[in-house]
Amino acid sequence: MNTLTANPLAALLDRLFEEADAVSPSAIPAVAALSREERERLMRSKTDYLDFYGRLGDLPLPVSRETGRLLYMLARSCRARAIVEFGTSFGISTLHLAAALRDNGGGRLVTSEFEPSKIARARQHLAAGGLADLVEIREGDALETLAADLPDAIDLLLLDGAKALYPEILALAESRLKPGALVVADNADYSPDYLARVRSPAHGYLSVPFAEDVELSMRLG
Ligand SMILES: C[S@@+](CC[C@H](N)C(=O)[O-])C[C@H]1O[C@@H](n2cnc3c(N)ncnc32)[C@H](O)[C@@H]1O
Repeated sequence: MNTLTANPLAALLDRLFEEADAVSPSAIPAVAALSREERERLMRSKTDYLDFYGRLGDLPLPVSRETGRLLYMLARSCRARAIVEFGTSFGISTLHLAAALRDNGGGRLVTSEFEPSKIARARQHLAAGGLADLVEIREGDALETLAADLPDAIDLLLLDGAKALYPEILALAESRLKPGALVVADNADYSPDYLARVRSPAHGYLSVPFAEDVELSMRLG
């Protein structure tokens, strides 16, 4: 048995994914009112992300079930003890990563979210999954909250907040990434400058597009 596929976590994740499937961003009036072009622009904007996520309100927007499982597997296989996450939302990806830490024998996960109501939900979910002791949620803009006091040697970084900020968040964590550390970026297609950085070995990464919408990169060293 392992933490991910045993209860209480397995049943909790089933419920959270089902609830997330039942709501779609286009059903939110403030999002439906946007043209396709405006939505694309907001997704790529380095300045309007507060507006965009404000419109999305209390939507969970989780990683897919497959990406969640991949995160658990990657964190287990690199025996991660220190993980940083950009974009907590309801904590679905966080639950997968924290489960891997538990099964690796313990560790620390620092995650970041600016919507207080989402943080409250994530805390409830982490408590229900029995994983709260492994996770520190930093409230506020990750550009500020992840700028200090990161773990000294990071094994895995998950990027799943505002896509346009991926290069800036990577820069905050970069000096602490262990040689061989994994960086997982969800929907990185919205951040061409991020992809240009991690796909260039000259910048110290090896990188591949993985599955439908994940960029999987490894820090060289
Ligand atoms: C795609 S959702 C994250 C989903 C989560 N990783 C999961 O799988 O359950 C993105 C989240 O990042 C948050 N976010 C976006 N930009 C942020 C920023 N600059 N600082 C903190 N949180 C941010 C949004 O409020 C939103 O809840």
